Amino acid sequence: MIQLKNVSFQYGPEQQVFSRLNLAIHDSFWTVISGPDGCGKTTLGKLIKGLLKPQSGFISIKLPQEIEGVRIGYISGDYSTSIVGITVANDICFGMENIRTPQTEMQNRLEEVVAAVGLDGYENRLTTTLSGGERQKLALAGVLAMKARILILDEAFSMLDWISRKRLRSLIQNLKDQLKLTVIEMTNQATDIKTADMIVFIGPTGVPQFEGTREKFLYSETAQHWIAPQGGITSLLGLFPVEIVDEVQRLLEQLNVDIK
Ligand SMILES: Nc1ncnc2c1ncn2[C@@H]1O[C@H](COP(=O)(O)OP(=O)(O)OP(=O)(O)O)[C@@H](O)[C@H]1O
Ligand SMILES: [Mg+2]
Repeated sequence: MIQLKNVSFQYGPEQQVFSRLNLAIHDSFWTVISGPDGCGKTTLGKLIKGLLKPQSGFISIKLPQEIEGVRIGYISGDYSTSIVGITVANDICFGMENIRTPQTEMQNRLEEVVAAVGLDGYENRLTTTLSGGERQKLALAGVLAMKARILILDEAFSMLDWISRKRLRSLIQNLKDQLKLTVIEMTNQATDIKTADMIVFIGPTGVPQFEGTREKFLYSETAQHWIAPQGGITSLLGLFPVEIVDEVQRLLEQLNVDIK
C-alpha cells in the first residue's frame, strides 16, 4: 500500500500544488490518476518516486514482500532522456549495474526482460535506431530488470500511435498479473481508464474529486463533467450497465479496428 498523509507540496511561494493531500494506492492494482492539465499528476508521480520531497506530511510505501534495491520504476513519455545505453543490452544493464546486480545474475535478468517485453533479438541494436514503441518497451525492460514492483507510467504512451498504445497496455497488464505489479498511470485521456482497476481524479486545485473503482467512476458526476465531453469510449460505456461494460468495450474496440 502506498499512503500519502497530509502531503503538502509547493514549487515556490506562489506555486502550491498539494495542500494536506491524503491518498491510498492499493498493491497489485492498476490505478489511473487523471485530472486536467497542471492539476499535479506529474508532481504526484515524482513525490511517490521520491524525486521530490513534500514540505510537510509523509508518504509511506509498504509492499507485501520486501525486496532489495529499486522498487519504483518511473517511465514518462519523454524517452529521449530515459535511454542512456548505446545498445539495447547496454541500456538495460546500465540500470542493473547502478544497483550493483552481480554479473552472473545480470545476464539472466537481461534475457528474461527482453523476452518479457518482446525485444528478444534486439540486444545488440543501437538504441538510436529503435522506433518509439520499441523505446517504450526498452524503458519498461529497464525498470523490470531492476525488479521494480511499482510502475509509474506518466503519460508514458502519449507519443505512440493507437495500435502501439494498445499493445504496450496489454503487455503491461499481463506483466502486472504475472508479477503482481502495482501500476500507477498518469493520464488525462478518457480511453486510458479501460485497463484501470481504480481511478483517482484530481481537480484543478490539486484536491481529489474522486477515488474509487473504475465502475463507480463511470457513473460518477466527475466522469460526466470532465471525461464524457472528450467523447471517448468512456462516454458511451457510461450508458451501459456495469455487468456488460467489458463486453461492450471489447465490441467497440473491434469496431474501431474494422473502421481503420
Ligand atoms: N519545476 C517546476 N517549477 C515550478 N512550477 C512547476 C514545476 N513543475 C510543475 N509546476 C507547476 O505545478 C503544477 C502541477 O504541474 P504538474 O506537471 O504536476 O501537472 P500535471 O497534472 O502533470 O499536468 P499535465 O497534464 O500538463 O502533464 C502546474 O501548475 C505547473 O505549472
Ligand atoms: Mg504531467
